[in-house]
Amino acid sequence: MWLTSSSIGRKLVMALTGCALVLFVTFHVLMNAVALIWPAAYNQVCEFLGANWYALVASAGLALLFIIHIVYAVWLTLQNYKARGNDRYAVNGNVPQVEWSSKNMLVLGIVVVAFLIVHLVQFWAKMQLQELCHADLTVLPQLEGVPAAPAMGTLFLQMAFSSVWTPIVYIIGFVALWFHMNHGFWSMFHTVGWDNNLWIGRLKKIGCWWTTIVVALFVAQAVVFTVRAQSNYYLEDAKLQEQYAEFWNAQAETLVDEFQSEINVAMKGLEANPIEAQKAQAEFVQNYGPKFVEKATLIQQSFEKQCPTAVPGDLFRQMAMISQQLQQMLGTPAMQQVEQANPVENQ
Ligand code: HEM
Repeated sequence: MWLTSSSIGRKLVMALTGCALVLFVTFHVLMNAVALIWPAAYNQVCEFLGANWYALVASAGLALLFIIHIVYAVWLTLQNYKARGNDRYAVNGNVPQVEWSSKNMLVLGIVVVAFLIVHLVQFWAKMQLQELCHADLTVLPQLEGVPAAPAMGTLFLQMAFSSVWTPIVYIIGFVALWFHMNHGFWSMFHTVGWDNNLWIGRLKKIGCWWTTIVVALFVAQAVVFTVRAQSNYYLEDAKLQEQYAEFWNAQAETLVDEFQSEINVAMKGLEANPIEAQKAQAEFVQNYGPKFVEKATLIQQSFEKQCPTAVPGDLFRQMAMISQQLQQMLGTPAMQQVEQANPVENQ
């Protein structure tokens, strides 16, 4: 196929995927700007996108774009090495730093990818991936010893930017991104032949402004997020605490619903037989109780830590009561008899 077999076809693929990535990066910096101006709205955007099908389709498309762009970059560089040794790109470089970046696009790209790996581990793997895997509360990433809700982006800003290494690594990534995008922007127009003598200077200027605004915004965001995380803003702001409380109240509600449907199944058809019902209840407590108590305790601890000023909902209080009763029952002599009667099951 022409797009893979000819050199110009491969450059066109680089230009088109590069253009889509420039648009993504621009969209991304604008979305982060919401976190800068209005953190509670940012959490709503994260919740809306989450692991819904449209967000997943966009993420898969984006991953594909990155992969194609990287594979073709390596391919073209190897091909140019073979053809012209180290002199890889032919540009009419009268702007020294554009010339430098044009010669180092692959190295700059590698620095951006290295940044991206750190970045995806810090955010995507802890947010969208957790939702995608329907991760249980007990395995969610933890912030100060309690789980963080995957849709609460501000908790992950707190987690990432409370380390002083994060802004340092990010700023190195942003500098590489500036050089890479600044050259790539003009280069994609050059590839598709939209750069006559009049436009070449204009496109370079537009590319430079576009890249500088995007990267300057990223730098400003990294600085502000670091200052806020260091002062625990994302844990102490009252509006954000209300949002975290909403999440934990919803978790409590789900747990109570689950408890009710599990107990209904365990006790089904035993209404007329009190002895069997008592035995079934003891077994239910034995088998399901510890799981419930573990989750309820996590929810209660998270609520206390992340939203101490918020008011727990009715179902949250009901969950706390059930948990207390289960803990008492698990410690009673009747339960110990059940444990002794089923030693293998209870291991
Ligand atoms: C201050 C700087 C940045 C912050 C605070 C930030 C924040 C985030 C967050 C919170 C997510 C996770 C969204 C989710 O999974 O729900 C994310 C994903 C992502 N970020 Fe960033 N980002 C920053 C800079 C960048 C830069 C410079 C790039 C690219 C060069 C980038 C590329 C990505 C990609 C590819 C994803 C995955 C998107 C997806 O799966 O749809 N980010 N970022």
